[in-house]
Amino acid sequence: MNNGRSKHPPRRNGNAVGRPGSNGHSFPGPSSGAGSSGPILITGGAGFIGTNLAHRLLSARRPVILYDNLSRPGVEENLAWLKATHGNLVRHEGGDVRDYHRLQKVVREAAQVFHLAAQVAVTTSLDEPIEDFEVNARGTLNLLEALRSLPKAPPLVFTSTNKVYGDLSQVRLRLRGDRYEPQDELVRENGFDEARPLHFHSPYGCSKGAACQYVQDYARTFGLKTVVFRMSCIYGPHQFGTEDQGWVAHFLIRALRDLPLTIYGDGRQVRDILFVKDLVEAFLLAQQHMNRLSGQVFNIGGGPANTTSLLELMDLLSELQGHSPSARFADWRPADQQYYVSDTRRFCAATGWMPRTGVREGLNHLYQWLKDYHQSDAGRSLRLAPLLKHRNGELTRIIPSSIRPRTVQTKRSFKLRASRGLTRREVTVRGSTK
Ligand SMILES: NC(=O)c1ccc[n+]([C@@H]2O[C@H](COP(=O)([O-])OP(=O)(O)OC[C@H]3O[C@@H](n4cnc5c(N)ncnc54)[C@H](O)[C@@H]3O)[C@@H](O)[C@H]2O)c1
Repeated sequence: MNNGRSKHPPRRNGNAVGRPGSNGHSFPGPSSGAGSSGPILITGGAGFIGTNLAHRLLSARRPVILYDNLSRPGVEENLAWLKATHGNLVRHEGGDVRDYHRLQKVVREAAQVFHLAAQVAVTTSLDEPIEDFEVNARGTLNLLEALRSLPKAPPLVFTSTNKVYGDLSQVRLRLRGDRYEPQDELVRENGFDEARPLHFHSPYGCSKGAACQYVQDYARTFGLKTVVFRMSCIYGPHQFGTEDQGWVAHFLIRALRDLPLTIYGDGRQVRDILFVKDLVEAFLLAQQHMNRLSGQVFNIGGGPANTTSLLELMDLLSELQGHSPSARFADWRPADQQYYVSDTRRFCAATGWMPRTGVREGLNHLYQWLKDYHQSDAGRSLRLAPLLKHRNGELTRIIPSSIRPRTVQTKRSFKLRASRGLTRREVTVRGSTK
């Protein structure tokens, strides 16, 4: 479709060389068409990460526009909270990233852009690959084109995913206690860096991977200022995690509600988890150093110092609760990585960033937040209702039939099954840990 976009000659990227910064930020970042004091645009801004980013910016008195169609259940509570906390400094545009014209209007006002809006679940992408593509790939291209149509485009930070590296099944692993670890010492010490070959796996991996390539290329070919974060698991307040996405918050929510967890695979898969406050600091640093970082991709996560396996996280949860959460096991899900840890050294060296919140501290924080939240008025009206239904007197998540667990184990078999050390080859593959 022709959206009446104005054409501009390709711009060159002025990659000025600057000094690495510290975690102390100066607002505003690089200047833009809207002027450096204009509002900051966050697509998907009512979501989990968007809310935390918006809160940080608004607390520094920066006006923020949240461009969000509120399609994720529960995020309207985030929006209500941001409005109640920050008043008119925050504005909601109820648009869809598939709507190029609306995007084009809103980017004109922006001093900086963070692109977070997405179809976020691998599982949903298996059921709805075309919609997944439209939102993630086409939606991102719409945003890039909207930016390219401006005489001076504001800089863009894009949130990609570690899923672009595929299932990493070629990495040789070994078992250590309740977790997998790489046999290669360097990978064990540092995690996976940005030079790892891309291997898009699952429709979600493909749509985010394509978007990520476009964002990089629009810096190279058209001179837009862009940075891509390939992010590992992020967790923290305002996250309404479900079985399909946001597993750390999902585990905590289930445990708080005394509902059993389903573990896909053997529970020994390892992730580096990053507390959202640390991610927000990385976002601000990326914008602050945009002139130097533009066109680059960075792996962002908790890194080797902040890893956990699913079984280890359940142990931490037991400590927090004073009793073990109940769990059952099901088949591995597609594209699930048995081990993923980000090598964040490039971004750390470029900006001075470091994750500051350890796993135990971050989990404790999220647990307390969820506990308070569920006891509050907002929590009572949390939009879990459409996701849950009563079955045999127990609230059960409604899962599309295609991703229902086929191997269901009881709580009693939890440790037993884990100790058998099931491998990927012994189970049928569906879904993933996100
Ligand atoms: N949370 C993680 O662990 C993680 C890891 C890697 C990458 N990411 C990426 O970070 C971004 C934010 O993730 P999150 O965890 O905050 O997810 P989220 O689901 O909480 O937020 C996404 C927001 O986008 C909105 N949205 C969805 N489709 C839209 C559309 N078509 N138009 C406009 N708005 C739309 C939703 O309503 C929601 O508020 C996503 O791009 C996700 O792929 C997240």
